[in-house]
Amino acid sequence: KFILKNDEEKIQEVQNNLPKSPFMGSELVQLAKYQNFWYGDMYIQNILKLQRNFVAQDTDLIIGSLMKTGTTWLKALLFAIVKRIHHAVTQSPLLSHHPHEHVHSLEPLYGEHPSHNPNDIPLPRLFSTHLSYTSLPESIKNSKCRILYICRNPLDMLVSLYFFSINFMKKQVEDFKPPSMEEFFEDFHDGRHPCGPFFEHVVEFWKTSLERPEKVLFLKYEDLKDDPTFHLKRLAKFIGVPFSPQEESEGVITQIIELCSIKTMKELEVNKSDDKAIDKFFDKKTYFRKGEVGDWINHFTPTMVERMKNLMEEKLKGTGLSF
Ligand code: A3P
Repeated sequence: KFILKNDEEKIQEVQNNLPKSPFMGSELVQLAKYQNFWYGDMYIQNILKLQRNFVAQDTDLIIGSLMKTGTTWLKALLFAIVKRIHHAVTQSPLLSHHPHEHVHSLEPLYGEHPSHNPNDIPLPRLFSTHLSYTSLPESIKNSKCRILYICRNPLDMLVSLYFFSINFMKKQVEDFKPPSMEEFFEDFHDGRHPCGPFFEHVVEFWKTSLERPEKVLFLKYEDLKDDPTFHLKRLAKFIGVPFSPQEESEGVITQIIELCSIKTMKELEVNKSDDKAIDKFFDKKTYFRKGEVGDWINHFTPTMVERMKNLMEEKLKGTGLSF
């Protein structure tokens, strides 16, 4: 309703002219390359509308991520930390609603049937996005809002994306024949995966976190697993609500870690359901699979490991970032 008709037409024209690539070998689901990154073609219009219309507020907290890097986990943690002044951890709304219902993904909010109007969400607003740093709406970059970026070892991310995508494709495409992990790896290697190329996405946020540490907090899935207490304190401090000594001694941090653990989250009725979590595409339960570090070992051939290692070296050279 915010958009003039001729703008709708322009958006359609932009979409029509983007390079396209079949996803998982199916012509029925396409990726489209926009501003150097591949996104689901079905999200391109939302992304353009989001870029044109979203107005960030200084108090907004925005999770940035590639798909399957721990977004849902970070949503739960962020929500629990920010809202702890309103609810005891034992009474948390996370027990009754999926993390994606508390921290809204921006792209679907600019679709045809948005679940919410961003302007009606109480402050501080919590959002997430899979957009690259380059493509973020200008007001996100220029306001004082803060970004929490999470990334993950690309091997585990790839395995996670493979299973998540098969689930999704089976619902979209009749008699869908999944590609092998090797075939899927080829697309990843070429950067042709949703929100890819992986390394370019990660490096943009990594560099911004070094240049503007007050703007972007850079987190790794593996570090969060390894020392959640340390990283929760970092996170709380970054967003301006540090844990008090009293909270620490009362065990609030541990309670939040346990509440948001995959073990707890996966067993909650609300997170087990086939209902849609974000929009009409994704079931709530598909956001929780194994939640482990190193599952790639069960799926990668030695050649794939070697090629990933080389790719990583090439793309991360000189950045100071490693996995
Ligand atoms: P796996 O498929 O490797 O299990 P995203 O939320 O970005 O879509 O990422 C999903 C991945 O994070 C999945 O990885 C999922 O199991 C894992 N995950 C979801 N909730 C988690 C939690 N609370 N703790 C740790 N990992 C979690």
